[in-house]
Amino acid sequence: MKRSICLALIVASQFCSRPVSAQKNDIAARPPMGWNSWNHFKDKVNDAAVRAQAEAMVSSGMRGAGYIYVNIDDTWEGDRDANGNIQANSKFPDMKALADFVHSKGLKLGIYSSPGSKTCAKFEGSYGHELQDAKTYAAWGIDYLKYDLCGLRDQMKDAATPEAAHQIMVDAYIKMRDALRSTGRPIVYSLCQYGNDAVWEWGATVGGNLWRTTGDISDKYTSMAAIGFSQAGLARFAGPGHWNDPDMLEVGNGGMTEDEYKTHMSLWAILAAPLLAGNDLSTMTSQTLALLTNRDVIAVDQDSAGKQGDRVSAEGPIEVWSRPLADGSKAVGIFNRHQLPLAAHVDFHTMGYSHAVKAKDLWQGKDLGSIGPAYTVTIPAHGVVFLKVWP
Ligand code: GLA
Repeated sequence: MKRSICLALIVASQFCSRPVSAQKNDIAARPPMGWNSWNHFKDKVNDAAVRAQAEAMVSSGMRGAGYIYVNIDDTWEGDRDANGNIQANSKFPDMKALADFVHSKGLKLGIYSSPGSKTCAKFEGSYGHELQDAKTYAAWGIDYLKYDLCGLRDQMKDAATPEAAHQIMVDAYIKMRDALRSTGRPIVYSLCQYGNDAVWEWGATVGGNLWRTTGDISDKYTSMAAIGFSQAGLARFAGPGHWNDPDMLEVGNGGMTEDEYKTHMSLWAILAAPLLAGNDLSTMTSQTLALLTNRDVIAVDQDSAGKQGDRVSAEGPIEVWSRPLADGSKAVGIFNRHQLPLAAHVDFHTMGYSHAVKAKDLWQGKDLGSIGPAYTVTIPAHGVVFLKVWP
């Protein structure tokens, strides 16, 4: 669908009837992978912490596993200079030097702003300075922008109708899209407006390479599961260059069990979600590293077909999700949302297989030989059995 037609539809009905491909597929052909400061560091992020993350990303093997973006979230912003140019605050003495450092590690640097006058943490936003800020980011060597609605909601509140409020938001996202494009630098454009107004319907039309589909995650099973399992039905809106974003990872932050973190990683992989680690990479345990860098799980997330998976069935606390992969196989997650281990009975007929399938258990790294088509397996509390299956 042409962008102009789609935008006209948005104005008319806030609705684009089918997914629209993004314009800059080349910069996020796969769901972005990297790290973001917010979940662990919040306002404590600074230059030293970011450098430590970049170094750890390389030395731990995370870069080798595909993690490339080092993203500074909110609280880096300082005052504007006399000409209105945004400056970093004292926590970041030289953003260009930081970008050079990150680039020297073979990594990319991301930053954060808001279309409002203020960010969520009440730092300086980009309102009225969009082009200027985009130019500054490009001059610094920024590769990724998370653009978080926050402060703009004040203006939206004053709009006469919900449609007018929606239009203020859409226009603001288009404005920054155009500003970023005018710099000529490829900058991944990450929309953050918590999934409001069914952003998956129009996120790609405003240039989004990814868009948050929900409110903020926290490091608890209830939060992660509520977000992850709510993503059913969104698969058709994602594809190369334009991804649904159920928020950043909490793996390694300490609030969930290992089985719960496996659920987090498996579900995000099935969802073709961006994998932005949210822990302190410089102090993580080998167990956390293993969760973040399981090659088979990452291969599902980054599968070249770029087709998001979806729920196949939900029977009480047992949910089965699957994702079609480029080689004709399927990733199948059998999840137990109960707080005790449960036996799950899976019927592979529901996934289009009439006979037994070959299977590999991705967390155990173990070939299971032939299983099914009726298959019973015990799933740990809040856990998952994550399989790759093929005929
Ligand atoms: C919002 C976003 C978070 C984070 C904070 C920063 O809450 O959803 O991901 O960026 O703002 O203030």
